[in-house]
Amino acid sequence: MKEIINVELKTRNVDVGARKTDMLAVGLFSDAKKLDTLNKELDGKLKGAINRLMKLGDFTGKDGTSAVVYGNDRIGAKRVLLVGLGEKKKATLDTLRKAAACAAKKSVESKAKILSLALHKAFGTDFDVSAMGQACGEGTYLGSYRYDEFVADNEDGRLDSLKIELIDPDSATTRKLRKGLSAGVVVGRAQNYARTLANRPANVVNPAQLAAEAKELARGSKTLSCTVFDEKQMAAKGMGGVLAVGSGSQSKPRFIILKYSPAARVPRARPKVALVGKAITFDSGGISIKPSANMDEMKLDKSGGTTVLATMKAVAELALPVHVLGIVPAAENMPSGTSYRPGDIIKTFSGKSVEVQNTDAEGRMILCDGLSYAVKQNCDVIIDIATLTGACVVALGTYMAGLMGNDDKLIEQLQKAAESSGEKVWPMPSGDEYAKEMKSKIADLKNIGSRWGGACTAAAFLGQFVSDKKWAHLDMAGVWSFEKATEFAAEGASGFGVRLLTAFLANLANAGKK
Ligand code: BES
Ligand code: MN
Ligand code: ZN
Repeated sequence: MKEIINVELKTRNVDVGARKTDMLAVGLFSDAKKLDTLNKELDGKLKGAINRLMKLGDFTGKDGTSAVVYGNDRIGAKRVLLVGLGEKKKATLDTLRKAAACAAKKSVESKAKILSLALHKAFGTDFDVSAMGQACGEGTYLGSYRYDEFVADNEDGRLDSLKIELIDPDSATTRKLRKGLSAGVVVGRAQNYARTLANRPANVVNPAQLAAEAKELARGSKTLSCTVFDEKQMAAKGMGGVLAVGSGSQSKPRFIILKYSPAARVPRARPKVALVGKAITFDSGGISIKPSANMDEMKLDKSGGTTVLATMKAVAELALPVHVLGIVPAAENMPSGTSYRPGDIIKTFSGKSVEVQNTDAEGRMILCDGLSYAVKQNCDVIIDIATLTGACVVALGTYMAGLMGNDDKLIEQLQKAAESSGEKVWPMPSGDEYAKEMKSKIADLKNIGSRWGGACTAAAFLGQFVSDKKWAHLDMAGVWSFEKATEFAAEGASGFGVRLLTAFLANLANAGKK
């Protein structure tokens, strides 16, 4: 897939004030009593312009704010972008990631060709330098992205490439930055790949086209292999859940498997991981059809699946020493004469039967077959990710994903990965009380629970399909997109989960090392 914007990233060992560049980005905390060494030096070159701005109150360092000071003949930069970092004590790696994203977004908006980042300077020794390099890499991809591949008539058109450099006068620091940056580039690009795939509408990405994308990923890789089951192969295997959901559409369902086999030796004790992503290329609700308002957003209902594909891409490019199986059941949920109906009893891949009470609870109907496949492949750890329930959005809003599961340690590992990746999760229950609601009188299970706790009953349904495996479920319905553009990201698909899952797998690969 052609990238939306071609970002080139490197590090450069150079004096910050002297560097000739279109935009130089530096960070400032809102509660700093005075300018730090770098900003003081720049202020001198800018004849006190930074101090004047701050005295006037036009820029205070509050997070989510920025200000531009134009350069002069004493400084190499044409523009100095001051990025607000908020309160110092609240700063995390994500503060830096978002600051880098903000700088990249501003650069694209002002058509800068070269952006020089010295944002890490403000953080001193608070964070590992390599981790800061990674955060900057991820952030610049996050911020420079916009989804405009179908806009031909782009009057105030943007440049299609941006050169970004992380700069520091100290060569040991640049070296460490570079180490993290290379990982950040892989993860950032993978996340934007997920965003583009998710943003593409349902007339452009149907299940077969999504499968073709997965094949394409494997084609360019030595360690990824791709297998796709079409509807006939699924029927032969008894994948009744995916088939039922896909039965109403002209675009037939697919079952996509991406297998990552690392080139390096993997310690025997290291768990084999399965990532299972929901890919409903369009969710109309089916016969239990959704109201028409905002139904167009349901093209994003494949986001769990696109996140899994992109994570597999990142894991392969990072060559992480861990076995990972990416499983993406893909279908389009449409109403028609061939659709599955409320009342139908479906035999799933696991052998369990499910009474369909609402065809709009389709995510769990395809995921259960994905989970069973992971169990049959003998994966030790199974993580599914899905835009599963509106109830999760009601519960948590749009800032974090719901996290359920059957293993405390796995939940903790995901929480840890959420901290470093800045993709937040919040633990929610899915135990026996919820599972009980999913029992049917005429089948093993039914596909909806009572009116309350819809995110938890949905998770409890999925929990019936993981046998004795360690399992976690991420409900990303609330975080699937940026509803409006922010200072650090354009509107549209968020690619949520790519950073989180990659960080989780990287931690797993690093456990016991060092
Ligand atoms: N894809 C939706 C969930 C969703 C809602 C995602 C809002 C993003 C934003 C899912 O398939 C769905 O329709 N869920 C139903 C379940 C219900 C019928 C039990 C829901 O949440 O209403
Ligand atoms: Mn639905
Ligand atoms: Zn759905």
